[in-house]
Amino acid sequence: MKCIGIIGAMEVEVSRLKEKMENVKITKKASMDFYEGVLLGKKVIVVRSGIGKVNAAVCTQILADVFHVDAIINTGIAGSLNKEINIGDIVLATDVVHHDMDAQGFGYPKGQIPQMQEFSFPADAELRSLAEKICNEVNPDVQVFQGRIASGDQFISDKKVKDDIVHNFGGFAVEMEGAAIGQAAYLNGIPFLIIRAISDKADGSATMDYPEFEAAAAAHSLNLTLEFVRRV
Ligand code: ADE
Repeated sequence: MKCIGIIGAMEVEVSRLKEKMENVKITKKASMDFYEGVLLGKKVIVVRSGIGKVNAAVCTQILADVFHVDAIINTGIAGSLNKEINIGDIVLATDVVHHDMDAQGFGYPKGQIPQMQEFSFPADAELRSLAEKICNEVNPDVQVFQGRIASGDQFISDKKVKDDIVHNFGGFAVEMEGAAIGQAAYLNGIPFLIIRAISDKADGSATMDYPEFEAAAAAHSLNLTLEFVRRV
């Protein structure tokens, strides 16, 4: 693999990666700073996309067109959709779906993009299984799961909204970028991996502790990303 693009939506998700990079050149595009350089011996482009699906898709397309990356990793946090998946645990997306895409009025199932064949976008199976193996080594205190991740331009903090997403999509985690990155990577024929550490239960519980959980979850995701880059 010659060059890996690494996207985090927030600074907390990418700052330590940037600190560890060598020979850094920064290119600004679409108001995003693309850090091009070497991380643990691998050529990488690290970028904070900003939050939400439009930022994530624009960022992914730039990684494809300008930097010609061979694979894309998205590292970050997510809300859990499954009671077995606890705060701090890791979810690796098997596939990603847009939970807020809704053309049911035209007879499409919720989540289906009209006039596209795909309902969800599959993450690369080899990248996923390597990530699972590494996660068990670097984060032995947390569980790692593989399952569907649902994305939308909504922070989910209401039990009813969460239950609807689970009912419609059967996902393991919910966040705000993965499906946009997955779709853009898929359209460009680039393998992708989505690594998400759970920061909350997506139901409004424990909001007081959210900043603490967010920092711990981002650290788990980062530990895995660093070792993954070293070994891939
Ligand atoms: N990212 C982290 N937690 C989330 C949630 N509950 N909803 C959407 N994105 C998230």
